[in-house]
Amino acid sequence: METPSSPLDCRGLTPPQAAVRIRQAVSASAAGTAPLSVVLDEVCAPERVSTALRGAAHRVRYVPAAALGPAPPPAAAADPAPGGAEPWWQRPDLRYADGRLHLGDTDVDELASRVGTPAYVLSAARVRENARRLSDAMASSGLDHRIHYAVKANRSPALLAHLRTADACGVDVCSAGELSHVQSCGFPPEAVSFTGTSLTGRDIALLARHPGVRVNPDSLASLDALGRACPGREVGLRINPGAGTGYQGDDRLNYSGAPATKFGVYPDRLGEASDIAARWGMRIVRLHFHVGCGYLDGQLPEWERALDAAAALLDRFPDLREVNIGGGLGVPHTAADRPLDLDRWASAVARRFAGLGLRVAVEPGDYLVKDAGLLLTEVAYVERRRDVLFAGLDAGFNLAMEPVFYGMPCEPVAAVPRWDEGEETYTVVGDVNEALDVWASGHSMPRLRPGDRVALINAGGYAASMRSDHCLRGQAADVLLIE
Ligand SMILES: Cc1ncc(COP(=O)(O)O)c(C=O)c1O
Repeated sequence: METPSSPLDCRGLTPPQAAVRIRQAVSASAAGTAPLSVVLDEVCAPERVSTALRGAAHRVRYVPAAALGPAPPPAAAADPAPGGAEPWWQRPDLRYADGRLHLGDTDVDELASRVGTPAYVLSAARVRENARRLSDAMASSGLDHRIHYAVKANRSPALLAHLRTADACGVDVCSAGELSHVQSCGFPPEAVSFTGTSLTGRDIALLARHPGVRVNPDSLASLDALGRACPGREVGLRINPGAGTGYQGDDRLNYSGAPATKFGVYPDRLGEASDIAARWGMRIVRLHFHVGCGYLDGQLPEWERALDAAAALLDRFPDLREVNIGGGLGVPHTAADRPLDLDRWASAVARRFAGLGLRVAVEPGDYLVKDAGLLLTEVAYVERRRDVLFAGLDAGFNLAMEPVFYGMPCEPVAAVPRWDEGEETYTVVGDVNEALDVWASGHSMPRLRPGDRVALINAGGYAASMRSDHCLRGQAADVLLIE
């Protein structure tokens, strides 16, 4: 962290990223204090950064790089793990260096000392990288595309403001609250799509006040209510293709499998949807489907069946300009999970929807944020009960519910592993008085002691956003790392 007197180092950042970093530093320092000294790269023109800073520009003074000394050395290479085996989750920006876990360039144990535990920590660089990878794969497959980040996965205001400033993507919201929230984080109506369920009169009234928002009603009732409130509006229609898939084929995460679900209009009622749209002078310009969450490579054949079912309906909508294929792209949660082959995924989309004059929108939540986040915790106790060795953390399942709800684990990882003390097999539990409050069972880790920090990985998606304060244990810091 910069001391107030040392310049803020923004080398390596683009102008929008530098502006976000500077704004954070300015707002963290008292108004009316001395100007903030900032160092930029040669590629980063001060005028462009100042324009992006708007009202905060006058509090910044740009100083030559010499004021900082040499540029920081590149991040250290990952440590070879003992015995040569690399943890399955290790990657260039989440790795052990000098025996300490780093997210990007941040030593997470040191961070925990500064901000306390539990703490959600999210790497903005990883989120941007995930979005870029997805966009590149779609572009390489010849898809005219648009990304709407599904903010239900993580609505951190700092993240949303960062994504907006970096112009990384649009957003998808599912409620009036989320709509107001993304607007307060800088997203204009044109950058927002709305795909909600069980819409009330209040939701419809708010949508009517924002004609630029792309709404995708998911029921005949919502379509009718929207038409009544704003006749003549262009709309999307969320359909249910009757085929879907989710993480490792788990039915709980399949939104459009064999049993009827609450999501979307089934093909047998599309005629009624067209009649409702005609009655209110609305044109259905977007076909939307979201068929499940967390699918990986092994689920692609099922997912392609959903694509086929949706593609077969295109002819029913003469005014279509866009197909929105929803989100649901998953990330590995265990060593056994095979990651999604993004090129294979994008080719499957292109085979159905490229070359038809249609834009393809995608609405990922988890894929952008989940593996960018950690939940930092501290070991409260280690104690054997019968034949089980328990390690109790200062964070419970209420801070990341997906492991318990959906069997998508957040694997516990030592922040500073005591590799020289050997491994133990732990049942890692939380601090909530519920029997299901278990992070991992029979989990092999380097020996733990009270006070050690443990990072729960894959906590960037649906952890903070779904948290509860059950047992009044819900307090946690929120940190966005912008490097
Ligand atoms: C309509 C819609 N779009 C997008 C998403 C994001 O899903 P995911 O985070 O799995 O990508 C969801 C999640 O439930 C959704 O309901």
